[in-house]
Parts: sequence; structure tokens; C-alpha cells
Amino acid sequence: MIKMIWAMDENHLIGKGNLLPWHYPKDLEYFKQMTASIPVLMGDMTYQSLKSYYRKKPLPFQKIYVANLEDAKYEDATRIEDIHQFLKEFTEDIMVIGGKTIYQLALPYADKLYITYVLKAYQGDVYFPHFDLNQFKLTWYKTEEQLIFSEYTRITS
Ligand SMILES: NC(=O)c1ccc[n+]([C@@H]2O[C@H](COP(=O)([O-])OP(=O)(O)OC[C@H]3O[C@@H](n4cnc5c(N)ncnc54)[C@H](OP(=O)(O)O)[C@@H]3O)[C@@H](O)[C@H]2O)c1
Repeated sequence: MIKMIWAMDENHLIGKGNLLPWHYPKDLEYFKQMTASIPVLMGDMTYQSLKSYYRKKPLPFQKIYVANLEDAKYEDATRIEDIHQFLKEFTEDIMVIGGKTIYQLALPYADKLYITYVLKAYQGDVYFPHFDLNQFKLTWYKTEEQLIFSEYTRITS
């Protein structure tokens, strides 16, 4: 099953200077819980962003795949050159964790979406790509102060 997780503000903003535009400990806790025991797939920019947050500490994932068109090597991750082929052939569960480019490429394959709605408008430079949420149904949600955690499941006829 292909799963995707992200947090976005009222204007679908997701990033600022290759970092998150906000700091919500509850969302970070939720993200950690949702990604601790499942392989994760991210783009090279998001990998560099997480490395800057964690500095020398290891990234807290079981198995890491990084999409990158350049011939880069990662000490703690497997490089994915063809994301379409990878997602078509991957048979286990995986969580796609960003950023914008990788969300856009992976959306057609997604079975579940975990969206954190940040109920404010922030400044930044990266927005979630336009997509059709009508292809999914809301299967769970929880409200926490300025955040709504939600789960959507793809509608299959
Ligand atoms: N709010 C959230 O939940 C959330 C989550 C994650 C990230 N973010 C934010 O999103 C922003 C980063 O997004 P981004 O779009 O700039 O970067 P990204 O999606 O993390 O990574 C993009 C990289 O993917 C590689 N790529 C592009 N097309 C590919 C393909 N067809 N196959 C394989 N690899 C491919 C390219 O690497 P090369 O150019 O090196 O070849 C490209 O630089 C940051 O601001 C970050 O903080 C927000």
C-alpha cells in the first residue's frame, strides 16, 4: 500500500527555505509515530532538509529511499532513479514523506493520504501540488488546537 503524509496550511503551503514553515510538536510527534515502522520515500531536497534538522543524529526511519536524478550515494539510504517504476513494483507498505516534487509524482499511486491541516496562513515558498481530493474519502480525523489530523482512503469502485 502506498501512503503519503504531509502538513499544509490554509493556502496549501508546505515549505520555506527547504524547511517546514512552522513548529508544531504535536505534528512532529504524529509524523514520527506514523513513519517509525514503515519504509519511507522522499526526494533529495527533503532528505537534505531532514539531515539539517537531525544534524549528526541518525534519521529515525526503518528503511530510507531517496529519489534523485543525479548519481548520488547515501550512507543511510537507497537511491531511487525511476520513481514510477519503483512505486509500480514495490509490494510492501511505504510512506511517501515529500516534498512537493515527490508528492506530485507519487499521488497517482497513493492508496492512503495522511494530511495535517494547519489552521493558519504562513509565509513560505513551496506549496502542495494541485490535486483532486474527490478521489479519496475521509476515513478518520482528529482535531488538536490549531491542527486537524486526517486520513483519506482512495475510493475504488
Ligand atoms: N509540510 C510537509 O509536510 C513537508 C514534507 C516534506 C517536505 N516539505 C518541504 O518541501 C520542500 C521540498 O520539496 P521539493 O519539491 O523542493 O523537493 P523534494 O520533492 O524533496 O525533492 C526533489 C528532488 O527529487 C528528485 N527528482 C525529481 N524528479 C524525479 C524523478 N522523476 N525520479 C526521481 N527523482 C526525482 C530531484 O533530485 P535531483 O535534482 O537532485 O536529481 C529533485 O531535486 C521543502 O521546503 C520541505 O521543507 C514539506
